[in-house]
Amino acid sequence: MNDQSPGDGAPGFRARAGWTREQAAGIERTAATTAPVFYQPETDQMPHLHIWDTWFLRERDGTLAEVDGYRVCFSLTAPSDLLPGKRHDVAAIRVFYSADGREWHDGGAVFADALGQRQWAGSALYDDGDVYLFYTAAGTDGAEELTYTQRIVGASGGTVDTDDGFDLRGPWTHHELLSPDGERYEREAQSRAMIYTFRDPWFFEDPETGETWLLFEANSPVPEGSDACGGDASQQEFNGSVGIARSPTGDPLDWQLEEPLLDAVGVNQELERPHIVSQDGLYYLFVSSHLHTFGPGLSGYDALYGFVAEELRGDYVPLNGSGLVATNPANAPFQAYSWMAFPHDGEVLVQNFFNYFDFAGDTLDEIAHLPESEQMRRFGGTLAPTLRLTVSGAGTEIIGKLGHWEIPMAGESLPPTERELLARAQADGERGGYGR
Ligand code: FRU
Repeated sequence: MNDQSPGDGAPGFRARAGWTREQAAGIERTAATTAPVFYQPETDQMPHLHIWDTWFLRERDGTLAEVDGYRVCFSLTAPSDLLPGKRHDVAAIRVFYSADGREWHDGGAVFADALGQRQWAGSALYDDGDVYLFYTAAGTDGAEELTYTQRIVGASGGTVDTDDGFDLRGPWTHHELLSPDGERYEREAQSRAMIYTFRDPWFFEDPETGETWLLFEANSPVPEGSDACGGDASQQEFNGSVGIARSPTGDPLDWQLEEPLLDAVGVNQELERPHIVSQDGLYYLFVSSHLHTFGPGLSGYDALYGFVAEELRGDYVPLNGSGLVATNPANAPFQAYSWMAFPHDGEVLVQNFFNYFDFAGDTLDEIAHLPESEQMRRFGGTLAPTLRLTVSGAGTEIIGKLGHWEIPMAGESLPPTERELLARAQADGERGGYGR
């Protein structure tokens, strides 16, 4: 825990709130922020696929939907015989469903005609029987070479039919919703960095105001010669932001760009898959980021980072002082990535995917130097164990984990944590006269 309270945030560069170099300099693994080692699942539920970024079908108010008794999720996927490092080039969105939150079934590729050369992460809305899918169209339609341009797209027209099992079907219509304006959000041509982002749309209804928002990952334009970061151009290249657009009417296909919620100029280039958990009247903003996207002079981890504010567009303060919420253990620093938090039974659960679990090199780039068979063997490509967190004020703590792919059903109580079991055993022992 730490002594910062919501309200003491630092200003950003183009956003009201910022993640500063001083705050990020405090990133360090602690017992409260380090996940246990994850082992391979006993059975791979989807051996035919590499599965990574995943999101749930949710109601407007953020509740995980249960459609006629089915939990539904969407993931970026690629065939499992592909070299894992190549998967982003062919990513396609598939749907999975489960009647018990443990055993999942492949409902197939969602689109035959999506925009972009491949589709990257997003979110999904279940609105009174209508399914909307928000995703990133990556690459230029029709181009022969792979390109890295990114647009935010909404697909409408989805419905679920459970008369005979589970069937998500269209016909889908793909609407280009947002592209960067070059002012608040950097265009690819303005980027000075090696990685460029305008992606990962995430639908959010503000419980306080009822307003409808779309969060996304972006970069804040920092013009050459700017005095940001004391004029240090090598730091200015690292300009990640959490973007936001508002729907004036609540229509999930009508969005207007607004100023970013938070930016990290000089700190980090990629604030990935931003999303919010509301709890105790506070807004917990979470992002995933990588060790290699921190600016010069800073070191972080592949981890879930978070911030808290009293309002959606408030003065975000990094959780636990530095922003670090959940990282991988030092001996398996790349075991998981792409964390997505959601409230359940008084805790915050975090789903993530099982990444390079058997690799302790300095950076993920080194993976590409291993023989292909080793790259395949060390890659999980499935959902990782779900983490359990407690979240209170500006502090968080990892208190345990559930199984791979385990996403409890609505109303399901969580089992006691290992710590609770130990405490109970000790208390029982003491009562029986064995306690010492
Ligand atoms: C995070 C991420 C997302 C992107 C996807 C592409 O894992 O970088 O931001 O949508 O992977 O595969």
